[in-house]
Amino acid sequence: MTLDHVTIVGIGGSTRPGSSTEQALRAALKEIERLGARTVCLSGHDLDLPHYTPDDTGHPRRRRLVDLMASADGLVIATPAYHGGMSGLVKNALDHAEDLRRRPQPYFSARPVGCLATAYGAQGAASALASLRATVHALRGWPTPLGVAVDSSRVRFGPAGACQDPHTQSHLEIMARHITEFAGVRVPGYRQEKAS
Ligand SMILES: Cc1cc2nc3c(=O)[nH]c(=O)nc-3n(C[C@H](O)[C@H](O)[C@H](O)COP(=O)(O)O)c2cc1C
Repeated sequence: MTLDHVTIVGIGGSTRPGSSTEQALRAALKEIERLGARTVCLSGHDLDLPHYTPDDTGHPRRRRLVDLMASADGLVIATPAYHGGMSGLVKNALDHAEDLRRRPQPYFSARPVGCLATAYGAQGAASALASLRATVHALRGWPTPLGVAVDSSRVRFGPAGACQDPHTQSHLEIMARHITEFAGVRVPGYRQEKAS
């Protein structure tokens, strides 16, 4: 199966320099690239947008975010846990999916969405991940069977971007496989190609 026609869009991180969420997001996207798909990452400054206002399409970063969400074959959304839920930065980015409501393929429908949450401990990561998965469901996306919770109090990423914790790294790899398998199957032509 070739996946070079498949584009997975990563959205998330925080505005903090050295953001562990952005590092985890990039590590997930790296795994997806290793499996053959293309990736685009929107993080930090890319998501620094005014609060979502319906039909106010003027901001160039907003247009880029909405266009990439619309054209993605799959997504990875990564949030830090802020007070037990997803961050305002990430929720505001997801609010912009509302602009896709009238598209032929509304919101995130028919697309796999990998969900990833970082937190300073297991409890915050688990609750932020659950809230993110619920939002992706509401947006008609298909959260992958495995979401990834990263305990940033102990998990580190190396200079080349790989996760240094084998357990977390294995979860990133499984999630990357779930996304590429689903995204590859839904791309027109894939079934024919597989049969030949
Ligand atoms: C405003 C704020 C709220 C936070 N709330 C929680 C929380 O409820 N539970 C938790 O475990 N960590 C919490 N943290 C810690 C972050 O989730 C954690 O350090 C995360 O990895 C930060 O992501 P970043 O490195 O991408 O900025 C909070 C941090 C901030 C700044």
